[in-house]
Formats: sequence, C-alpha cells, structure tokens
Amino acid sequence: MVSLWDAAERADFPSLQDNVRCDVAIVGAGIAGLTTAYKLAKEGASVCVLEESFLGRGETGLTSAHLSNALDDRYWKLEKLHGAIGAKLAANSHTAAIDTIGRIADELNIQCDYERVPGYLFAHDPSALDELKQEFAAAHRAGLSVSWESNAPWKTFRTGRCIVFPDQAQFHPLKYLFGLSKALGTHAKLYAHTRVTGIASGQLVRLTTEKGNTVEAKHVVVATNVPFHDRVVMHTKQAAYRSYVIVLPIPKGDVTKALYWDTGDPYHYLRLAASDNPQEDLLLVGGEDHKTGQLEDTEVPFFELEKWARLRFPQGGKVAVRWSGQIIEPIDGLAFIGRNPLDHPNSYIVTGDSGNGLTHGTIAGLLLTDLIMGRANPWAKLYDPSRKTLASAGQFLKENLNAVTHYLDWLKPGNAQSVQDLAPGQGAIIRDGLKKIAVCRDEKGAIHANSAVCPHLGCVVAWNTDNKTWDCPCHGSRFDKDGKVLNGPSLRDLEPIAEVSRVP
Ligand code: FES
Repeated sequence: MVSLWDAAERADFPSLQDNVRCDVAIVGAGIAGLTTAYKLAKEGASVCVLEESFLGRGETGLTSAHLSNALDDRYWKLEKLHGAIGAKLAANSHTAAIDTIGRIADELNIQCDYERVPGYLFAHDPSALDELKQEFAAAHRAGLSVSWESNAPWKTFRTGRCIVFPDQAQFHPLKYLFGLSKALGTHAKLYAHTRVTGIASGQLVRLTTEKGNTVEAKHVVVATNVPFHDRVVMHTKQAAYRSYVIVLPIPKGDVTKALYWDTGDPYHYLRLAASDNPQEDLLLVGGEDHKTGQLEDTEVPFFELEKWARLRFPQGGKVAVRWSGQIIEPIDGLAFIGRNPLDHPNSYIVTGDSGNGLTHGTIAGLLLTDLIMGRANPWAKLYDPSRKTLASAGQFLKENLNAVTHYLDWLKPGNAQSVQDLAPGQGAIIRDGLKKIAVCRDEKGAIHANSAVCPHLGCVVAWNTDNKTWDCPCHGSRFDKDGKVLNGPSLRDLEPIAEVSRVP
C-alpha cells in the first residue's frame, strides 16, 4: 500500500556492518528519531540512528500530514486529564512543533511544501454544537487565538459554525524526512536495514542487531512508534488503531487550502495537496478509525470514507490513492516522551502519537534533546511516560478489558475450515486440533502458513483484508503474509509452519 507521499525522491542508507560506539543510539528513523538525532548532533553529541527498513517505510509516510495544535483529544478533555496548566503546555508544545518544522525546513533549505494554513473544526452533527462551544472556550484558555466562522470555506456543503485555529501548517512528510536525513552532518550516522533485536540496559546501553553487530551508547532512544523492548507497562497505557485516507481530485477553488476536522467519533479530517493538473487540487479525506485487528472487512472504512466525501463533494473525481496507517492512542490524550518506566535512567522512549504524530515526534526531538543534555524542559512532566492521571482510569480499564477479551479468541473456531476455502488474496484462521494457524493464499495461489499466536503476549492475530497483513487485536502488532513483523510491540515474527501441506 503506497501513500500519496511515496513518489518523493528516496534517500536510502547502508546497513550497519560493524560494532560501533556513540553517545546516543536512536532506534527508528521516523520524524521523532530524526528530529532528535538532528538536534543532538547540532549540539555536538555523536548519534547512531538504526532503522530496521528503508527510510520512510514507517508511519511518518502514512499520515495525512496535518501539522496542528488543534488536538484530536480536545482541550476541554485535556483540561480534565492534565489540568488547565497541562492543557496550556500541550497547546504551547504543539505550536512550538509547527514552528520548529518550518524553521528546520528553512534552515536546511528542505523543499517539503511546508506552508501555513488555517484549521477549521466543525460539528459532525448539530447536536455537537455545544461541544464545539466547550472546545472554543477551552482552546482560548489554553492560550490559542481561536475565532468563529459561520461555515468552513467549501462551495458544496454547509458545515455550519466552526472554530478557526490560526497558523496551522501542512507539508510533504517524506520530503521533509529525507531532507532531514541528508542534513544530519558528520556527528550523526544513519543505518537503514538494521533491525535491533535486543537492548541491554546499563550505564552503557548495548544494542544488538539481527545480523549480530552491536552498538554501545551512553543513552538510548526508542522511537519506533511503539516500544518493542517493553513487554507490558506501556502497552497497558495505549491502544493501536487503524486510520484510513482516500485522495480524490476536486476542481481548483472549490475548497480553500486549510486543515479541516469534524467532531465525530470516529472523526474525519481533510486537507488539500497539489495536483499535476493545474485545473484541480487533490483532496485528502481521512478517518473511520477502528482498533487494529478488530474489523473483519477493512474495505469497509474506505467505502464509508468515500460515501462521506461524495455527500459533501459530489464534484470530486475518482479516488486516486488510498492507504491506512497505525495510530497509537494513549489513554490520556498525550504522547509518552521521556524516560522509559522501570528502566535505567539513560533509556528514553517516544510513543502514543494520538493522531498527532508529526507534532508529537517533533516535540520529542526538542524534549529528549534537553533531557539527554541534562537541561530542564517545561514539557517534561506533561509527557513523562511514568505519569498517572486519575481521570484516565476509566479509559485504562476500557482499553485493557478490550485487549483481555481477545484472549477468548482462543476458544472460537477458526474462520475457515480448510485452505481450500481461500481464494487468492484471502486469509483466515484455521483450527488444527488445539493449534490456530494463520493461513493466506497469495495472488499467485501459493499458501503461506504461520502460527496465529502473536509472539508479544499470545493473542490470536486477524487477517487485514486490505493490507494483506496479520494484525493483532490486543496491542496492534502487525505481520506480513510470511509472518514477518511490520509493527511492534512484537519483536519476533510469527512462528512459521514447516509443513504447509499438512495444514487442513
Ligand atoms: Fe500484544 Fe499481540 S501485540 S499480544
């Protein structure tokens, strides 16, 4: 599955071939990892960045690239969870992130189509107008200069009253990422195609790669969307969701260039991108989120998104591109950035993007640089991964009960009787005595079979009909058709079934 951003020039890097030492080892070369590397290297620290695949393979390239301080979790809720000062700091940190991306793009002359645009938040339904008023007041208290408009600037649909958030931005995330990677300088080295399989904590952290090389560092930052070296603690505080995006051409001028969101649950988000055709713009429409591994037919969200879009933009052309990405929702609305709980103090994580991964990733670059350089940072407490917010206890229970109920999948029969039931492109769980087997038939008709047991904490994976992947409903690990891990927290692949011919 390719996103709209995949056409960007690639910037690949060689893999690690040796044992190396550096001040800071960073695992993951998304926006969080690379911003942290850039900031630390600028201060003279030696940095090694280890990326398991090619650059841009991760979630940074699967966002809709809204750069915003209009937070998905709403300021009135953040006030309840983190207090008025916390909400203000959240607004301030996201504003700083939008500014930082613009400044870095300028500083490094990265041509990433960064531009300032306003943002419009509108009610998905007239009954949500009160919530909108509540959000306006809370955003104001958080220090944002929001205002009201009677309608979003669209020609073909009346949204009704909306809150305008000034000075948001949009950009091309992969052009930015590649630009940043090329500008790391001599202090930072980036190794792609280098999978870290172990991290031994201590005064000196020791990372081991799949190929047997080691990296020794004074500090380690795990910036891999979800931390793979933490088996339980962080995974009880966040949950994985899939979010969907479609792109359709629309006549130029029908929608004003801006960011848009509604208040629905799941909500919708929109923005424009440039088209090669001067008569039109590309309209990105996203949303229809659901918990990873918990929707039987992942074609449905695309269908629903298109239905929603056509009602509002009947003049839109054929869907040109579509994709989905993984969002990690923390139980209290804000990312976890800082020292890894129950670990050595030189071990840091960034996770729980909350649908604002590009700004949260940039905040991580600023905050972690301060922590590693031994400086105080005003956002440290707000984003501390060890924080406990009493008001989020309900959400904590809800998400963890949801994960626990998926262990009952063990008791269910398989969703196919035999491999003979599978058409090309289909996958299913087949029960073989006490075992559950994840079986799929590829487009050429070949059968791929692996244990259906997620190596993280033992849930049964589910077939993703659109991506042709195995997704875990408990904490969001994802695996390709051959069982190779694509998204953590699982560190290991699905166990292969040696004798495929013996699968029922
Ligand atoms: Fe935790 Fe699968 S991701 S059990």
